Amino acid sequence: MTQRANVAAFDPGNGNGNARWLLRGVRPLGAAAVDMLLAGPVIVEVGPGLSAPGANVLDADGLIALPGLVDLHTHLREPGREDAETVASGTRAAALGGFTTVFAMANTEPVADTAGVVEQVWRLGQAAGHCDVCPVGAVTEGLRGARLAELGAMASSAAAVRVFSDDGNCVSDAVLMRRALEYVKAFDGVIAQHAQEPRLTEGAQMNEGAVSARLGLPGWPAAAEEAVIARDALLAGHVGSRLHVCHVSTAGSVEILRWAKSKGWRVTAEVTPHHLLLTDELATSYDPVYKVNPPLRTATDVEALRAGLADGTIDCIATDHAPHAPQDKETEWAAARPGMLGLETALSIAIMTMVETGLLDWAGLADRMAGTPARIGGLPAGHSPRSTDGSRDMAGVLSAGAAANVVLVDPAARWTVDPAAFASRSRNTPYAGRKLPGRVQATFLRGRPTVLDGKIV
Ligand code: DOR
Ligand code: ZN
Repeated sequence: MTQRANVAAFDPGNGNGNARWLLRGVRPLGAAAVDMLLAGPVIVEVGPGLSAPGANVLDADGLIALPGLVDLHTHLREPGREDAETVASGTRAAALGGFTTVFAMANTEPVADTAGVVEQVWRLGQAAGHCDVCPVGAVTEGLRGARLAELGAMASSAAAVRVFSDDGNCVSDAVLMRRALEYVKAFDGVIAQHAQEPRLTEGAQMNEGAVSARLGLPGWPAAAEEAVIARDALLAGHVGSRLHVCHVSTAGSVEILRWAKSKGWRVTAEVTPHHLLLTDELATSYDPVYKVNPPLRTATDVEALRAGLADGTIDCIATDHAPHAPQDKETEWAAARPGMLGLETALSIAIMTMVETGLLDWAGLADRMAGTPARIGGLPAGHSPRSTDGSRDMAGVLSAGAAANVVLVDPAARWTVDPAAFASRSRNTPYAGRKLPGRVQATFLRGRPTVLDGKIV
């Protein structure tokens, strides 16, 4: 790809975020090339041959324009594990990956289970300015699964928390889960469940199946995930609340979600990029970079997850970006922490698994990575581009009047993953050395570039 227009010395406006950007030749959601004019936080004009004297001009010929991506599941590790990631480093990684909003998981140290901690994370996000940070609040105090956290105080805090999760841990007590679902109904919050029956997964190291049997590693049965999803879907249906299922990983989970949705219950679900691509065969290397929770499953599961995401049974992609310091990850398999980086590779893996396979078009990808996660996370309209009527129709998200959260992707670019070049503080990517399709060239957050020419602004 040729060098884009020289935007090294762009006009940032008067500091109030009201600079104007003329994006020449973009293809909104993969459609025919047009020009797009951003003025401050909104897209003001879309059409052929626009002129905007004095505006910054970006030659975006052939680039796909997508709404700014929204990640419902990011571990930013601050406060507490700033050696692995900080809000600043994680949101730089997010912007480079095309994200304009990330939801920061609550399993920090201290846990984000009070108004004080969620406000701290929210303020750190604002100070860094690379993308919006929406803190997720813990469901239970200290993620211990024994007593509900201060859900109301977190919801009414400056961070206005709407998503609650004990992610990393399952809320395994059915009564607590029911109470949490009832509690958040008042403010249309959602409980995001890490579905893992703890007793069935004691000591588990990888997916339970032929590979775990061969390796002699304790297995993690699919039923441990599926049982919790079924139970929680029943509870959500019973109390009429919103349940979101984190990182579904099995074909059986897709079937249960399909059943729950057929009942009209308010159940949504996400799948990670790694579960759309990688299988448990990788564990045969004993390289802990492939250790993750939930574990990598079989090729049959991967196929069912892709089909479920394509037909809408699974609502969206979420990264589960899980940075880990070398001393926690580069150790023997059993001692290594589960989790892998995701923010800087998510869009490429999604393109590889869903677009290049013909399962989704660009509008479908925009729905699964921006519109639908924005809706599940309860982002206010204008915060991120999405359809105004709440439908999955992405038409309109990149038209005049919409929020100027835009990512420009070079669909023809191929790039080789070099962990050393990541903005993340951690290096635990399973894709090191892999050649991936699709490269983020620019990201705009409310009309302000956070990434230009593939680099942080
Ligand atoms: O692999 C994972 N890592 N899964 C989780 O649920 C938690 C996460 C983490 O915090 O590292
Ligand atoms: Zn989890």
